Amino acid sequence: MQQAVITGTGVFTPPQTITNAELVESFNAYADLFNAENAAAIAAGDVAAKDHSSVEFILKASGIEQRYVMDKDGVLDPARMYPRLRQRSDDEPGIMAEIALDACNQALEMASRKGEDIDLVICAASNMERAYPAIAIEIQKLLGAGGFAFDMNVACSSATFGIQAAADMIRTGSVRRALVVNPEITSGHLEWRDRDCHFIFGDVATATLIERREDDTQGFLIRSSRCATEFSNNIRNNNGFLRRTRPDGVADRRDMQFMQEGRKVFKEVMPMVAQHVLAHLAETGVKPEDLRRLWLHQANKTMNDFLGRKVLGRDPEPGEQPNILQDYANTSSAGSIIAFAKHSNDFAPGDLGLICSFGAGYSVGSVVVERI
Ligand code: COA
Repeated sequence: MQQAVITGTGVFTPPQTITNAELVESFNAYADLFNAENAAAIAAGDVAAKDHSSVEFILKASGIEQRYVMDKDGVLDPARMYPRLRQRSDDEPGIMAEIALDACNQALEMASRKGEDIDLVICAASNMERAYPAIAIEIQKLLGAGGFAFDMNVACSSATFGIQAAADMIRTGSVRRALVVNPEITSGHLEWRDRDCHFIFGDVATATLIERREDDTQGFLIRSSRCATEFSNNIRNNNGFLRRTRPDGVADRRDMQFMQEGRKVFKEVMPMVAQHVLAHLAETGVKPEDLRRLWLHQANKTMNDFLGRKVLGRDPEPGEQPNILQDYANTSSAGSIIAFAKHSNDFAPGDLGLICSFGAGYSVGSVVVERI
């Protein structure tokens, strides 16, 4: 059996940001437009008026201060409220492959590797921009990689599930070097017209390079990983390839974008994740107090505070559980990898940490790593 080591990470950060103040200003303009256009129906009680959003609520409910996006103008246009992305020809790289490539190249550079050294690419993300050919195979081609590539989608847990899949293949010897890449253009599936969730998501791409330990590698040994799923409708998006076959399927329906029962998600996912992590640590023979750091999924500050306390059995010290969500918002599968990429340089040989992501499915994935 080989051992699997994370030798590089990369984070592609889009150039445009939207602050909470900008977001709220645009949402409120949209709400005013909607209310004016539907004044008669609202007065008759047939349509509910849209309430204004608030900067104070967003910060208090989520801890998010801003988010990065691929297209700010389209999102903030009160007459549109979703990104405007250029139509690309089939002969040029798709936008997911393009941002994924940037993150992959950063990860390769960190480990002084080249695209041709790679023999597995997993594109693990919440959404794919087309049905086929796989985005991962396009990335494989752009990298000049060999071997094989495939897409996988486990929503917010896609990165940790991808790391487990790649690490298992490296351990058994079927693969030598793998890139797990998470291009998340969440602005495409977020419902920016719904004040309950319009502040939640941001765009990014992350990449994780995993190699065999025997190849004279440095980085983070993957000591163990655990994945779990449990079906729930509380985070759901009904968009899919059968859309046009259904009555009203191509209409502008609310359920064709991200939907969640936020309170239920909070109540149900938190105990599931805490139990999962504690059981995983126990099975691996690692005590919570042995962990120097938790790199958690970045959905919500209160969620992370809760998990930190449950896992460590006390309030985490500053730096033990770094958040990046104030800058990036929830970037779906990429969040825990951004936290890991930006907050792991100070680890000394022997230090242990835990990467953990969770979300729709429900799903949860955890990875115990040791600096070598
Ligand atoms: N501005 C102002 N008020 C808002 C608002 C906004 N943008 N959005 C909602 N509100 C109002 C609600 O209408 C509600 O008013 P009411 O009490 O009069 O009914 C009140 O604020 C509380 O709303 P609620 O949705 O219950 O807020 P919350 O405290 O549950 O926070 C989330 C919302 C989404 C941050 C929270 O539920 C959460 O963290 N959920 C899970 C985490 C997550 O985001 N998961 C994503 C996938 S992993």
